Amino acid sequence: MKFSLSASLLALAASAVQAQQPQNQTGPFFLHITGKEDKTIDGYAGACHAGAAIEGLCFANGPKPSGDNVNYASFYFNYTGNQDVDGAEVGFVSWNLQLAPGSDPAVVPSPMSFTYSITSNVAQPMFGPGNSQQSVGFDKDGKMFVFGSMDDATFEPDNRPHNPYQPKAYYNWFVCWQYVGSYYYHAVGWATTLPPHNPTCQAVDITQVMI
Ligand SMILES: *[C@@H]1O[C@H](CO)[C@@H](O)[C@H](O)[C@H]1NC(C)=O
Ligand SMILES: *[C@@H]1O[C@H](CO)[C@@H](O)[C@H](O)[C@H]1NC(C)=O
Repeated sequence: MKFSLSASLLALAASAVQAQQPQNQTGPFFLHITGKEDKTIDGYAGACHAGAAIEGLCFANGPKPSGDNVNYASFYFNYTGNQDVDGAEVGFVSWNLQLAPGSDPAVVPSPMSFTYSITSNVAQPMFGPGNSQQSVGFDKDGKMFVFGSMDDATFEPDNRPHNPYQPKAYYNWFVCWQYVGSYYYHAVGWATTLPPHNPTCQAVDITQVMI
């Protein structure tokens, strides 16, 4: 499978770069995707066209990306050091949108956020220059987690929890056949609760592999 990208609306993309507080960045790295139950799932994530300067996170079974696909599969992790879970920094993942040759800047960092649906619990990771930044991290085994701080599963009527803030790593990653923008892709999905509503979703681990 080839990851494709629209080359349009790059001026719009370039204008969306924002000022940030000091951050450290690691990368580039690949995101290795392996099935939790279905061991035939073994491949890599790559940015795939979902709209003007907007990409989803597609799945391609097979070996490490090479050649033209390396750019689409190269990600970065930014963190400030303000939050961690069990010693793992919490920050956000981004992908670099490459502008036309000769452009200044040459690339536009595109943070990952989730797009939610009101009729499913499966959200799509999306990359875009103006995106909000989904809080994620990589644990000691390099597995990507999503940072969560509130769990309403134990709430009781009229009994306000004293300390609802419980920072925790969640790993509800799947690959699913799903709409990413208006494209029907085999792509990474995030289940806000389990099990995922979409019956094509298969549970996966997503592991950081430094390039
Ligand atoms: C991530 O951190 C690097 C290094 O500090 C910085 O240059 C870059 O702008 C940051 N990326 C985003 C999307 O804020
Ligand atoms: C960022 O990197 C610098 C240089 O390696 C290091 O001194 C600093 O502690 C790092 N900051 C955070 C928040 O990890």
